[in-house]
Amino acid sequence: MSHKRLSLVVLSFSALGFMACPMNPPSEQAVPATRVVTGKAAASSCPANPAWLNSSALPGEVPSGETFCNFQQFMWQSLLALVQPTSGDPTRLQFETWMPSYGIFIKDGTPTAWGQEPPTSCPNNPPPPTGKKPRLYTGIIKQAGADQPLIDLKGEFVYYSMTVNQSAYAMLTDCQLYKAFCAGPLKPQNQGIDLIGKYPNLALPDTAVELKTSWMVLDEAGVASGLFYVVPGLIQHNGGTCRPVNLGLTGMHIVAKTPNFPAMIWATFEHRNNAPDCSNTTAAPPLGGAWNFYNPNCPGCTTNTYQPATPAQVCRMHPQGDSATGTFPDGNDCTANPSQFACQTKTREMLAQSSASITAINSSVQTLIQQAAPGVINKVWANYELVGNVWTSGGTVPPYLQAQSGSLSAANTSMESFVQNGVAAVTNPYSCFSCHNMQGPTAERNLPPVGLSHLFQEVQMPGGCENGSLPATCNPYLGNP
Ligand code: HEC
Repeated sequence: MSHKRLSLVVLSFSALGFMACPMNPPSEQAVPATRVVTGKAAASSCPANPAWLNSSALPGEVPSGETFCNFQQFMWQSLLALVQPTSGDPTRLQFETWMPSYGIFIKDGTPTAWGQEPPTSCPNNPPPPTGKKPRLYTGIIKQAGADQPLIDLKGEFVYYSMTVNQSAYAMLTDCQLYKAFCAGPLKPQNQGIDLIGKYPNLALPDTAVELKTSWMVLDEAGVASGLFYVVPGLIQHNGGTCRPVNLGLTGMHIVAKTPNFPAMIWATFEHRNNAPDCSNTTAAPPLGGAWNFYNPNCPGCTTNTYQPATPAQVCRMHPQGDSATGTFPDGNDCTANPSQFACQTKTREMLAQSSASITAINSSVQTLIQQAAPGVINKVWANYELVGNVWTSGGTVPPYLQAQSGSLSAANTSMESFVQNGVAAVTNPYSCFSCHNMQGPTAERNLPPVGLSHLFQEVQMPGGCENGSLPATCNPYLGNP
């Protein structure tokens, strides 16, 4: 296994090319003969298991059949496990016990111990409108890559939060990757130890899971609508005033590493009222009420384009992350260049099966939740759906385009609102892997697999690793050479 991966790494060095901006995707290259195609079976049905509705057990591996449906099942089971109540405090869900990025990446001192609440820069923690203790603190409003905020129809910013599970937390702290010198080139433009040369196999553990969530500020009517999973939150930008608000969950990225998928599996869920498909913007919101990020009374509004101080007009460019639906960044569809990877018959068949399995499992989960006996699961979770899921065939690392399988245009309208299709002049298609791709400071220097994560943009603490090496506590994560 490690041999195969190594050769793929070498093969792809030359083709990836260096791009300073993490938004540039790897360029196309010949498909290596060793490529294993996963996700084969057609998926007209893709059932969820009723046992997932009240189980907090995260799946550890994709079932060996590795059909498209198996990947969607893996991720829906994960989401349902993450939203189970914790035993100590039933209002607090499993995913809310994970460590937020600001508990790890701090300026001085040590990361917050696992299980503890990290300090925020809202010292007095003003009580939220509900009178409940705030459960979510965030100051992040800029979307990844584009660095632009999403403004909802009420003129409020959408807020983001990043958290990791205990095994990912252990790795980040055991390796002291919260210190700038240890993190080296994992943080763009950062100086530090020769991480690429010395630790080319440095990786998150096989059980690592990372989340990114998006939240909109809800007024009383929004809370009362019952449409959202709501938490009392504290929001703050640029170190300014802390504002207690109710936050409604609008999106969740779940990224999971497994033994067979070292490039990780990249899934994304959304609130079903976020945005209509660009091909059908007159559609009514599926949950009733209004779209969260699309104003039907503004047909002339420019879609998916950031405009300062103006509510965004967001529509979904590639439903189910299907590159064969919608247009490419240059405005063309497959008639312009039918031989490109995204347009080849084999790719389009793959995409069709992937999309069918996503649609099928979403409806399966919705039915199960709606029919569940009272108390089994909070029915609000029927208001969320899987909108994309992408991985690499055979677990290929790094995740260059031709190795990718599933939703080749996966994007979340609340998180990659303005880069669903990448930016001008990128190759098609464009997904999570276009940014999370291990590209290093130069073409010859791919980052080790841990560089698939972009958490290191949050590194603030200077120093660390003064002798040029990672601490001995990091040895378990160095991988086979
Ligand atoms: C435009 C580039 C871009 C795209 C596209 C993108 N991401 Fe990210 N992602 C980032 C950056 C940059 C960060 C770090 C953000 C920060 O530090 O504020 C990030 C953070 C994350 C995190 C938090 C932990 C980590 O590993 O960095 C997760 C989880 C994540 N992204 C998942 C996804 C998924 C799933 C997709 C596809 C559906 C995706 N991303 C698409 C750039 C991107």
